[in-house]
Amino acid sequence: TGMFTYDPGFTSTASCQSAITYIDGGEGILLHRGYPIDQLAEKARFLEVAYLLLHGDLPKQDEFEEFRHNITYHTMVHEQLAQFFRGFRRDAHPMAVMTGVVGALSAFYHDSTDITDPQQRLIASHRLIAKMPTIAAMAYKYSVGQPFVYPRNDLSYTGNFLNMTFSVPAEEYEVNPIIENAMRRIFILHADHEQNASTSTVRLAGSSGANPFACIASGIACLWGPAHGGANEAALNMLREIGESKNVKQYVDRAKDKNDPFRLMGFGHRVYKNYDPRAKVMQQTAEEVLKELNISDPVLDVARELEHIALNDDYFIEKKLYPNVDFYSGIILSAIGFPTEMFTALFALARTTGWVAQWNEMISDPEQKIGRPRQLYVGATQRDYVPLEDR
Ligand code: CMC
Repeated sequence: TGMFTYDPGFTSTASCQSAITYIDGGEGILLHRGYPIDQLAEKARFLEVAYLLLHGDLPKQDEFEEFRHNITYHTMVHEQLAQFFRGFRRDAHPMAVMTGVVGALSAFYHDSTDITDPQQRLIASHRLIAKMPTIAAMAYKYSVGQPFVYPRNDLSYTGNFLNMTFSVPAEEYEVNPIIENAMRRIFILHADHEQNASTSTVRLAGSSGANPFACIASGIACLWGPAHGGANEAALNMLREIGESKNVKQYVDRAKDKNDPFRLMGFGHRVYKNYDPRAKVMQQTAEEVLKELNISDPVLDVARELEHIALNDDYFIEKKLYPNVDFYSGIILSAIGFPTEMFTALFALARTTGWVAQWNEMISDPEQKIGRPRQLYVGATQRDYVPLEDR
């Protein structure tokens, strides 16, 4: 009709203004509020990054202490919420459980319904950042048939999550600092990535004034797909299926074959046409963690070989396909002891900080309107109804 811009997949439409995350896909640059991702991943605490995304600057010491207090204050979930888990089959996918349980939070906090009040929005954001580790750990515990472990506020954000996930009442458990540090990095690398599919989903859901917990549940649902957050699970499954370095070439050939729907999981990105800066940190972390934990996993050799072959192959060079954040993360998570089904739930846990920061930014934007894409109608023209017996 010429009235609207037709842009399937939003490859060239800016849906909002944002001051949170900057990406230069050509150069492989990612900045949060101006800070390079590798510096944050190297040095910052996860909660510093959460504060940064939410408030715009790194916290000063007293601001950090106050923020930490505000988060730890909300780490428990209502006892009634445990009933929701019991309604699921033990073999339910953790992302199915997370979508349901986080959505159910909207039934517990009636004060969060007033999203016009910035203070209420902040409390809802704190609740979400605080409760996601608890809920993700509960999803894991439920799947393995172990009792839920309550949060411990004397531990770091990641330390507490690892404790809720891996400690069992009958045994002494101490968080391994190497694992805690790797987990911290993984969480920071996943914290935000501007207007990706799940973040756009959260913004679109939130643009109608919907309940924040319901909005985050919609983000979790979107993240689950294998083209998005589900790629970390799919990437490790693919590397395990390849099994040995000598099989790599055959899979690379399949990925190039236009008649085969197979794609290299953990490869390619809508925005990055260069090495994903997160993948670089992830690769280093994978090498370090496996070495420090004295684990030799043949899957790391397969990943290295795959990267090497693909980066020297004309198809991948021409299409500018590089490893993305999901390519190496699974190797680390698997070394830590997470089953593949949990990988995307960890992504959701970390991305919650980005989701709430973006949601808050949207609601406080004076230009904010309900999101309402238009379409190019290509269906039937007007015609008259014919009664069933005459058709
Ligand atoms: N393996 C083989 N070929 C690929 C791949 C791949 N992983 N990714 C893209 N291509 C090809 C694709 O076939 C297409 O070729 P042609 O132009 O000849 O039709 C071209 O490269 C462009 O791909 P596209 O699908 O049009 O690009 P997109 O921007 O719509 O998709 C993507 C981006 C990430 C969905 C895609 O690269 C992909 O499916 N990758 C595998 C899944 C994955 O790793 N997802 C994680 C993304 S990063 C973080 C996150 O969101 O979780």
